[in-house]
Amino acid sequence: MNNMLQEYKGREQTYLKHLVLNQYLESWAHKMCSGSKYRNNVRLWYVDCFSGPWQSCHEELLDTSVYIGLEALSAATKKWAEFGYQVSVGAIFVEKNPESFKKLQEYIQSRNDPFEIHTFPGEFGLNVKNIENLIQNDPAFLFVDPTGWKGAALRYIKPLVRKPKRDVMVNVMYDYINRFKDYDDDTIRAQISDFFDMQVPPNLSEEDLFRLYRDQLKAVCGLKYSADLIVQDPIKDRTKYRLVVGGNHYSVLKLFRDVEHKIIGDESPKVRSKAKEESRLERTGQNALFNVFEEDQSSLYDRHQVTSKEKLKSILVNLENEQGPLQFEEIKPHILEQCHMTESEARRLLWAWKSEGMIKISGIRGRERSIKDYHVISETGHLTSKVEPIQKQHSFDI
Ligand SMILES: C[S@@+](CC[C@H](N)C(=O)[O-])C[C@H]1O[C@@H](n2cnc3c(N)ncnc32)[C@H](O)[C@@H]1O
Repeated sequence: MNNMLQEYKGREQTYLKHLVLNQYLESWAHKMCSGSKYRNNVRLWYVDCFSGPWQSCHEELLDTSVYIGLEALSAATKKWAEFGYQVSVGAIFVEKNPESFKKLQEYIQSRNDPFEIHTFPGEFGLNVKNIENLIQNDPAFLFVDPTGWKGAALRYIKPLVRKPKRDVMVNVMYDYINRFKDYDDDTIRAQISDFFDMQVPPNLSEEDLFRLYRDQLKAVCGLKYSADLIVQDPIKDRTKYRLVVGGNHYSVLKLFRDVEHKIIGDESPKVRSKAKEESRLERTGQNALFNVFEEDQSSLYDRHQVTSKEKLKSILVNLENEQGPLQFEEIKPHILEQCHMTESEARRLLWAWKSEGMIKISGIRGRERSIKDYHVISETGHLTSKVEPIQKQHSFDI
């Protein structure tokens, strides 16, 4: 990767957000298209609920979620058409700002996509019924990317995700919410309560705030799984926003963590160290004396891998205390919801812990050399003694 368009310079967080959107949506669309092997008339939807175009610097809007979304759909459907399967795809864009809406319409008309595309002016919340009428019982992926928190209440998302095969990704703008969440202002407090669908207790840490949001997304919208990933400010070592995913199938978590590994684990450190170096050069006019890229190698994602191991120990101990030894299949959603690691990483780690005598794995058949879903995991006592209380975390030193 690392061929970022110049137009993203100074807002590299948007580039990373668009990479996550593109990778998730394309894989999701592939999976939904694969249904056409068994059924006729498969139809799927991409719903961009706060579409923009917004802050675009590119003449052809290549730096917008509108372009990114349509390209991901195109890539998936083209592949399936090559295999001889025709899948109908629809895209829905909602934009409140009249000027942006006009640009959106002109752009869609100029593209000539072979999809059904609908554009709705006005607020997302006021368009929920229109969206429902179009998508009916079809699979849909919702992208909810508000500017702040206004207009993105969970009660609007709920009717759109309560059917099967509905995934949602919400951009929760932490730096913005954090600035205002403990403000003594009734209007702001009411708006934030609207976004969380409850009154947010004061002085929550970043981790606690997001745990609350994920729990609320699941509870209010009736979703089974939710997880988040962190997009940092390009220059400052703090969270810009988190992308929170929700859905009803474990595959949501698996895909999300794979995308996180690729974009936040591999791509983000490169993009951020380049942004930092450019910013330093602009400020000082001098080249770095040392390799900034090396410096950024110890990225937040790498540090998360360390804390995630501790978290994984607590998950195993707590689950076993509550429910007795469980199969890996039952444990893995808990791991992927709470730990920034992929399913393969979790499997490798557990196998290594077995070799170190930290856990016991039963049900191993023949010459199996890796964790299988049906393996039962129990702790040997070593884990309990090693479980450390998970430290309170801050946005800049997680
Ligand atoms: C953060 S921007 C979206 C950026 C876009 N998703 C992207 O990645 O390129 C949010 C957009 O939502 C629009 N907007 C604000 N409130 C809205 C609402 N209640 N319903 C729909 N759109 C809204 C804004 O005008 C703005 O264009």
